[in-house]
Amino acid sequence: MNRSADPAVQHDAFSHDDADLNTSGNPSFNEVLDSRVSRRSMLRGGVGTAATAVLGSWTLAGCGGSDDPAPVAPAPVPPASTTIDTLSFTPVPKSIADTVLVPTGYTATPIYALGDPLTATTPAYKNDGTDTDFENRAGDHHDGMEYFGLNAAGTARDPQGSTRGLLAMNHEATSQRDVRSYFIHPTGGTLNPRPAAEADKEIPIHGLSVVEVSKTGGTWGYVQGSAYNRRVTPLTPVQIAGPARGNALLKTVYSVDGTTTRGTLNNCGTGYTPWGTFLTGEENWAGYFTRGAADNAARGDKSVASLNRYGRAQGAASRHGWETAGAATQYARWNISKTGTSTDGTDDYRNELNGFGYIVEMDAYDKTLPIKKRTALGRFAHESASFGKVVAGKPLAVYQGDDSRGEYIYKFVSTALWDAADATAANRIATGDKYLDNGKLYVAKFAADGTGSWIELAVGNPLIAAYATYTFADQADVLVNARLAADAVGATKMDRPEWCAVHPTTGEIYYTLTNNSNRKLEPTPAQFGLDAANPRAYSDSFAGGAAGAPGNINGHIIRMAEVGGESAATAFTWDVYLFGAQADADTAKINLSALTADQDFSSPDGLWFSPTTKLCWIQTDDGAYTDVTNCMMLLGVPGKVGDGVKTTLSYTTAAGAAVNVDTYVGKKPTPTTLRRFLVGPVDCELTGCTETPDGKTVFANIQHPGETLAAVADVTDPSKYLSHWPGNAGYGAGGATARPRSATLAITKNDGGLIGS
Ligand code: FEO
Ligand code: CA
Ligand code: CA
Repeated sequence: MNRSADPAVQHDAFSHDDADLNTSGNPSFNEVLDSRVSRRSMLRGGVGTAATAVLGSWTLAGCGGSDDPAPVAPAPVPPASTTIDTLSFTPVPKSIADTVLVPTGYTATPIYALGDPLTATTPAYKNDGTDTDFENRAGDHHDGMEYFGLNAAGTARDPQGSTRGLLAMNHEATSQRDVRSYFIHPTGGTLNPRPAAEADKEIPIHGLSVVEVSKTGGTWGYVQGSAYNRRVTPLTPVQIAGPARGNALLKTVYSVDGTTTRGTLNNCGTGYTPWGTFLTGEENWAGYFTRGAADNAARGDKSVASLNRYGRAQGAASRHGWETAGAATQYARWNISKTGTSTDGTDDYRNELNGFGYIVEMDAYDKTLPIKKRTALGRFAHESASFGKVVAGKPLAVYQGDDSRGEYIYKFVSTALWDAADATAANRIATGDKYLDNGKLYVAKFAADGTGSWIELAVGNPLIAAYATYTFADQADVLVNARLAADAVGATKMDRPEWCAVHPTTGEIYYTLTNNSNRKLEPTPAQFGLDAANPRAYSDSFAGGAAGAPGNINGHIIRMAEVGGESAATAFTWDVYLFGAQADADTAKINLSALTADQDFSSPDGLWFSPTTKLCWIQTDDGAYTDVTNCMMLLGVPGKVGDGVKTTLSYTTAAGAAVNVDTYVGKKPTPTTLRRFLVGPVDCELTGCTETPDGKTVFANIQHPGETLAAVADVTDPSKYLSHWPGNAGYGAGGATARPRSATLAITKNDGGLIGS
């Protein structure tokens, strides 16, 4: 979600995209800055043997579809020539134009936008606020996305299929002013109480979609009426799976046995499993629910501590006011106050919030299989779910981040050991049961010497068992309240972990830390001090606003190498791949990666490695550099943890005291290892990145172009829109005065070559 530069539209009362909910007393790394452990000896002893046991990557495995019971042979390993290690395309300049810019020789075409009809009988999208039936249209705010190949006939999965496939994607949120999703209503919509007809449009523009895409005559488009097309909305039945299934914390009037809930919400990052299913992370779900002003007293139990930690203090307003639209359960559920008299919550929605905050698994190919919330992976503001290197006979690791200021980095390690035959399993959701319902959840603790440790979140951990703020009943309680358990063990508070991605060759794990306005040299108890892994606090004349409040304005990308290269390792080494900055910023304190004008960026968010080219795609969701450039995509050729230098940042407090913070800056990029590839239209973020297995088409999402509208009444005056994309690019109705729409891009090279070459 974008944080607009306009204070009037920051939605702070509703959105917890960057909220400060972590009030635990965990130490900042100032306490460990003087550690004397030798980082270099750790690196020599640990990382060097990382890749020796790797048998193959899931991205190369062939798989049979559930309607194709005969497993296909593993796909051939792409020739080494598909790896790109030197960038030669012409870098795209920074731009504030209302268009999509890509390098010379490339074409980016919108193919699937908000409201596009998915069935053969759904009318074309008029884009004037009168459209309905969003259960059969593309949702809003396209976000994370994965590509699933089909065979040429479209009858079965072909993981190498590069001209016909499915895009499964998230529809995170909607362009919003106060409670209203203004662009989908004729005159911008109505304040509370919300008319049911408006809520009935806004609710299903959230969730997921599956849409078939195909390349015909060299041109990509989506296939209206494909039998694979599908919407999953906040009202679709979804199963609770894993340790929390049936737990007391999940019981509601909708599911008295705590085994199901309705829908998935505020889906942001994604993942692709080794067995070919789609994973989606529920991020800022808490803000959609309201709690009564006296609910603490009504509850009078430990649930109050949980609700406070997850962003729903009593009296919190809901983001869209859907609970005001009527008494029917699809509206009533958004009020999570205790209103019933039962002792177990089976007569109201007091536990409804515990049904959100998970990694959710869906089989994009098969509508008949259940969608499952994988509670073993923990409950927080999820972004992507990225698998570590997949090795036969070893457990699987799933890396995850929790995107709020000062939240944590997590890892799930499966109990089951990887069986390569499962890459072609007929029932992919049953395979998910095998690997994602049993395992251990860990949280990361970064040390000042460039090492770190994974702390298991187990109910038997003495720090968790004795935690004063919250008493955990069982392991399911630890998973549902993972933030509280992570507080208890002293995990490291990070600068908003967004996407993570695993390098296909090295197996190293990269996390975008998008920014943190509350990272301070001199923190208050509600803010965060500097540490080695989050070492920057500085001012920016544009992003600082009236208060000029310093913080980590531009974000950074941290990376980790498991000791021994093992997914189940409990220790790692780390450094910072890149520090975001504007190119003309001080290279001693801010522009530590020495970014040039062709490379500079702010607020990294989306992150994805191409399994074909091995290139690192970086996408931004920025509000700090947007006076100079719209959000963008960059391509990188990263090195490895430890390829740079230890660097000391020197600060001076207001009282004149010197403070030095050591960090580890990865090898600085060169013009051939980092370049800007794309700049999007006005007021958008770039998010979601995937490609065809031949590496010749990349799909990326433009989210919320022109979302900032000064007043809802402006929706009737196109001259007030900040963006008219993609209408102004010739896509859909409206032309140069169109209402802006989130949309998917297909990016190809005009000579048919690899993207990034
Ligand atoms: Fe939905 Fe943290 O971005
Ligand atoms: Ca974002
Ligand atoms: Ca994100």
